Amino acid sequence: VTDAEVLPRGAERDAHGAVVLGGVSVDALARMYGTPLLVLDTDVLDANVARIADAARPLGAEVAYAGKALLFVALARRLADTPLLLDVCSLGELLTAERAGFPAARLVLHGCGKTDVELAAALAGRVSRIVVDGTEELERLAAMDAPRALDVLVRVNSGVAATTHAAVRTGGNDSKFGFALDETTAAIARVRATPHLRFAGVHTHLGSQIYDAAPLLDGLAAVLDVAAAAAGGGAPAESVVVGGGFGVAARPEDADLDVAVTLAALHRACSAGCAERHMAMPRLGIEPGRAIVAAAGTSLYRVVAVKRHGLRRFVVIDGGIADNPRPALYGAYHHPLLASRRSDAPLETATVCGRSCENDELVVAQLPTDIARGDVLALCTAGGYTYSMSSNYNRFPRPAVAFAGAGRHRAVVRRQTDDELLGNDLA
Ligand SMILES: Cc1ncc(COP(=O)(O)O)c(C=O)c1O
Repeated sequence: VTDAEVLPRGAERDAHGAVVLGGVSVDALARMYGTPLLVLDTDVLDANVARIADAARPLGAEVAYAGKALLFVALARRLADTPLLLDVCSLGELLTAERAGFPAARLVLHGCGKTDVELAAALAGRVSRIVVDGTEELERLAAMDAPRALDVLVRVNSGVAATTHAAVRTGGNDSKFGFALDETTAAIARVRATPHLRFAGVHTHLGSQIYDAAPLLDGLAAVLDVAAAAAGGGAPAESVVVGGGFGVAARPEDADLDVAVTLAALHRACSAGCAERHMAMPRLGIEPGRAIVAAAGTSLYRVVAVKRHGLRRFVVIDGGIADNPRPALYGAYHHPLLASRRSDAPLETATVCGRSCENDELVVAQLPTDIARGDVLALCTAGGYTYSMSSNYNRFPRPAVAFAGAGRHRAVVRRQTDDELLGNDLA
């Protein structure tokens, strides 16, 4: 693997050997905003969005960005200027979208275990569509007052268990999500019998980090069966949404599941599947999260110490499980690299670990023997489910986020201050 292959997507090294993200040196970014820092390369982000939107347009397909992957006001504002819809799955995500001026007409409310407050927000018209996750939630929604009718998608657990880590698998009989297949007829009937709910279609999502189109096609077939039964009962689905989960390569030797190519395959299968079932073709929808932000994001850290215990070399950085729980949660890989300078020193196995009170090993990889305190270490493919999952464990402040693109940069999320860290504590 050559150095060029392991740089973050779209990155290069400058004449001093520092990695350049969105045309800006990591040295400048780390000095300006401090570390840990999540840098979002907006050139890569915008290209990801454009490629997926361009693939969807001629197919009449809908693309919703799954905000759980990463969401803050500046990102929602940037996406508001694209054709994408935005999936929100909490009041906090909804408030973020609203603060950004994201139009309610393009917002969809998701979530397993929605609160009454979230259901009321949907019924009040703060989103255009809700994806109902189960019978109990549907009953609560049906019992509430509403000024107008709300579009409802029924989330189906297709029974298709994609090959991915159990923590991010959301289809199959051991997953909590959605209506079981044998509950869908009753659910659709309940929606249709409720004056303030309008049946708009069916939805499924199999999970994350799926690298093969086959399970997505199986999931589509399962929801088309549900849609066909609904159509037979007089309720054709306007939309069929097959979720997100398009895998993004983390290791240099791996490849992404191409969203544009997969969307075209799903569209062909949807068209053929509808013909077989003698029903009109609904609008096809997908909701990628990670495929839009993961490769655009790079986490920057300062090396705090390098230690040797026995045969192991530990590179301790100034972040860890609090700003990126993914390696601990499901063994996610983030490729590390010495980013602030080029090194000709030989490579040696190193364990990159955080400064939490756990053995919070982020990754074991080959790093130069001369990596030392003060160097900037980058973890690649860090845009999805890192900042959005970060915590204040050990009372570390949540990190800052910066945009870098076309040679310019700006802070888009400030690092938490000491006052914000202590702000909820009552004396
Ligand atoms: C319903 C739903 N849609 C879409 C996504 C996005 O998945 P990914 O970021 O892997 O594309 C998720 C992720 O949890 C999800 O739960």
